[in-house]
Amino acid sequence: MQANLRTVQLWSAFAPVIDFMNNLGHIIILAYGSWEVIQSKMSIGELTAFLAYLNQINQPTKRFSKIINVLQKGATALERVFETLDTKPEVAEKEDAIILPEIKGHIQFENVDFAYNNSGKNVINDLNLEIQPGMTVALVGASGAGKTTIANLAARFYDPIQGKILFDAHDVRDVTLKSLRGQMGIVSQETLLLNASIKENIGYGKPGVTDVEIEVAAKIAHAHEFIMELPDGYDTIIGDRGMKLSGGQRQRLAIARALIKNPSFLILDEATSSLDTESEYLIQQALQKLLQNRTCLVIAHRLSTIQNADMIVVLEQGKIIETGTHSELIAISGRYAYLHSMQFPQ
Ligand SMILES: Nc1ncnc2c1ncn2[C@@H]1O[C@H](COP(=O)(O)OP(=O)(O)OP(=O)(O)O)[C@@H](O)[C@H]1O
Ligand SMILES: [Mg+2]
Repeated sequence: MQANLRTVQLWSAFAPVIDFMNNLGHIIILAYGSWEVIQSKMSIGELTAFLAYLNQINQPTKRFSKIINVLQKGATALERVFETLDTKPEVAEKEDAIILPEIKGHIQFENVDFAYNNSGKNVINDLNLEIQPGMTVALVGASGAGKTTIANLAARFYDPIQGKILFDAHDVRDVTLKSLRGQMGIVSQETLLLNASIKENIGYGKPGVTDVEIEVAAKIAHAHEFIMELPDGYDTIIGDRGMKLSGGQRQRLAIARALIKNPSFLILDEATSSLDTESEYLIQQALQKLLQNRTCLVIAHRLSTIQNADMIVVLEQGKIIETGTHSELIAISGRYAYLHSMQFPQ
């Protein structure tokens, strides 16, 4: 704001000077021209023509004085564009990366260690986790335990320091990012929406998607109802990061977007955390059917949403401390049973 105020100050001092010089030129020409006319050295017509030409070059000259300003703004903007273009991604694709064939959905973490920025303490410690095709695996644990980090590793947003992650026996580092991520649907904890129409926000993961497909996905995610109430329906522009929508509405768009690809592997990171109990229940019901033949990694703090998972993995400071089904974990009266008793006091 201060820089802007300074700009306005300078400009308001500078602009009148330019105008003044301009008009001064007019006065001088008028005075000198009139003198020449009186002396009969010039005709009135010549003077008038001269003044008219002067008026014509007036505007362009004025504009020229603003060019430096515009150029400088442009240069700054360009710098930012290049900064973005030059950003090195966290992970690099191998030159001989292969296209990941259509996966069944077997996912394995083998002795995985991970730390952000290759420094500090490990966020994930010696993680071993095998997910069979079609399984729904839930990750639970305290805030900061490393749940989102595991999802990030599975989507190869980062590479482990140690160990490997396998999709149907293919190391994720050996396959192209496009073929890997093209087979997964991700609803991230922070909903990422773009300032575009609802239709584009749902459909952008799948090139050539039809309106019907978008509507079907929106219906499963229980987004169709609220979309139809918006002024332009599916063509409504939702603002930067979807700011014109509520948190729950944004989540439902993110779910629709993840489903539209018909992914073999689905990651739901707190995907229904901003929804009211009823919408959450309805979406859970719809998802249950959809998840039957897919591998799914669900992260949720509300334990009611993951009770039916095939396997529940309890994390503490990047380590697995318990695994099992809901009833198995309740039976051993460990950490999960404790968390459960907090949420459902008897
Ligand atoms: N981009 C990052 N850079 C550095 N450290 C990070 C980054 N993201 C997360 N961390 C750290 O890694 C640890 C695990 O974070 P993570 O996001 O996986 O937790 P979480 O289990 O998903 O928690 P929550 O339930 O709050 O979402 C935390 O201690 C956090 O501070
Ligand atoms: Mg998280």
